[in-house]
Amino acid sequence: MSKYMLLFQGTSFSSKSPKEIQVLRDYLYCINTDGMIERVVAPEDADYQFLLDTYQGTDSFHRLEEGQYFMPGFVDLHVHAPQWAQSGTALDIPLYDWLNTYTFPLESKFSDLEFAQKVYDDVVSTLLANGTTTALYFATVHKEASLLLAQICASKGQRGLVGKVVMDDPEQNPDYYRDADTSTALADTEEFIIAVKELAKATKQGVYPVVTPRFIPSCTDEGLKGLGELAAKYDTYVQSHCSESDWAHGYVKDRFQKNDAFALHDFGLLRDKSVMAHCNFLDDPDAELFADTGTAIAHCPISNAYFANSVIPVARFHAKNVEIGLGSDLSGGFSPSLFDNIRQAVMSSRMLEDGVNTSLPAEARGVPESRITVHEAFYLATAGGGESLSLPIGRIQENYAWDVQVIDTRLPSAKLPIFDEFEDIQDIFQKIMYLARPEHIREVWVQGEKVHTR
Ligand code: GUN
Ligand code: FE
Repeated sequence: MSKYMLLFQGTSFSSKSPKEIQVLRDYLYCINTDGMIERVVAPEDADYQFLLDTYQGTDSFHRLEEGQYFMPGFVDLHVHAPQWAQSGTALDIPLYDWLNTYTFPLESKFSDLEFAQKVYDDVVSTLLANGTTTALYFATVHKEASLLLAQICASKGQRGLVGKVVMDDPEQNPDYYRDADTSTALADTEEFIIAVKELAKATKQGVYPVVTPRFIPSCTDEGLKGLGELAAKYDTYVQSHCSESDWAHGYVKDRFQKNDAFALHDFGLLRDKSVMAHCNFLDDPDAELFADTGTAIAHCPISNAYFANSVIPVARFHAKNVEIGLGSDLSGGFSPSLFDNIRQAVMSSRMLEDGVNTSLPAEARGVPESRITVHEAFYLATAGGGESLSLPIGRIQENYAWDVQVIDTRLPSAKLPIFDEFEDIQDIFQKIMYLARPEHIREVWVQGEKVHTR
């Protein structure tokens, strides 16, 4: 019996630090039966040839072809799975109107499990095909349909973190779409947590329950307090929207005379396992509270361009030691691809730095030191997401899960513009970041299992 379940040979890209890419040229990656990277072996290592001789010709051995590269699978920290059914539509109106006109009516349809099955099957497969190996999902208020989403992640092999959404305030939510009352919302959440923990036992990659108050405006004080208690009792992840738009941010200020961050903290909802979406209007004390509690930010650059007309200062929050990952925010963000969100994160950050009103003198424009590079945006989509979730994912190195995508730069039908076989490897990395599409993602692996082939 061979020692490793799988042995891969090829060149990989992974973040060494937020600003630097580590390139392992022609390394071997030894994967154990738990789907973890047990060893990475350099070509000059004494064992390299021995391992090749042992595994070559067996079913366990996989060698990349010329022009193919390994990258960590993406970690999408903010996805509304039901909203996949309206992606690409209705982005021309403000958040509050969008929720009431389009989104709540759509989400209310997930009481129908047949409809839920169709949409959830498709969104999980689509995200896998886009290289997303881990996703933090909002489902809907419906307990059964939310559990169905977790089951679909489990069976397709995606590392899904799933929340049954809580909207328990009858004054703030439409009668056709909300929890019946606060005690039902909390009881359903508790049953959901227990059911997903049970389901997780039968998976290799793990699925996780997430305590999910939609955002402060949709919840009562008792609801928020009860959810904080459930998160502590079961040591679960927590997700919500935090200081997203002027409207949502202003609503919380009026109700609690403080910002979202401190209000959420008062209810026990900022924990090491908390991920808050958007965070456009965090001030310095809010950011420090995030760093102190281990709360992470899901940066959703495409969505923020529409609903918040805003760019979060990633560089500034990183300097304050806040963990940050990337989120698609389907369908507030129209794209299921974190490649698209990487590109938008870079472009938005440059606009923030240089300012939009070019009639102003240079010193009055924008916010200095806002720019991030494509390397930093890649970090957010991979290692930053893994750190935000405190899971060993998002990097290709020992003791991390084998969650990878295989990128093919020489696909005849979608060749990337690489004309020189000796092209600098860092330039190839950048071309992949800016030009790769789902066609270029030939294989996706989660925890040592192949979950997508093209
Ligand atoms: N705030 C409350 N609900 C939502 C939602 O579904 N999407 C976004 N972007 N913001 C929200
Ligand atoms: Fe959202």
